[in-house]
Amino acid sequence: VKIIFVSASGARTELDVSEGTSIMQAAVQNGVDGVIGECGGAAMCATCHVHIDPAFADKVQPIADIEEAMLDCAMSPVDARSRLGCQIALGPELDGVIVHLPPSQ
Ligand code: FES
Repeated sequence: VKIIFVSASGARTELDVSEGTSIMQAAVQNGVDGVIGECGGAAMCATCHVHIDPAFADKVQPIADIEEAMLDCAMSPVDARSRLGCQIALGPELDGVIVHLPPSQ
């Protein structure tokens, strides 16, 4: 599955990861700056806060209550496109997804 990270400064990183990888894992395993993933993907830290590009808004799995609650703890401003990267598994429907990284975690 192709995923494109865009940093707060506009730098693009394009990766190919296996299906089922989370957005957080894709970034951490490939050394993409801007995602920390402190809790290891348990929706307990909000250091995997990302913004999903509007073009893919209707393709991501809906947000869960626990995820929404944890987003309140994110360092950077949260908006309608905010998600926890660890809660989104990359499947074929998200091939080519563009993920914008916040300035800090
Ligand atoms: Fe901790 Fe996503 S890695 S909430």
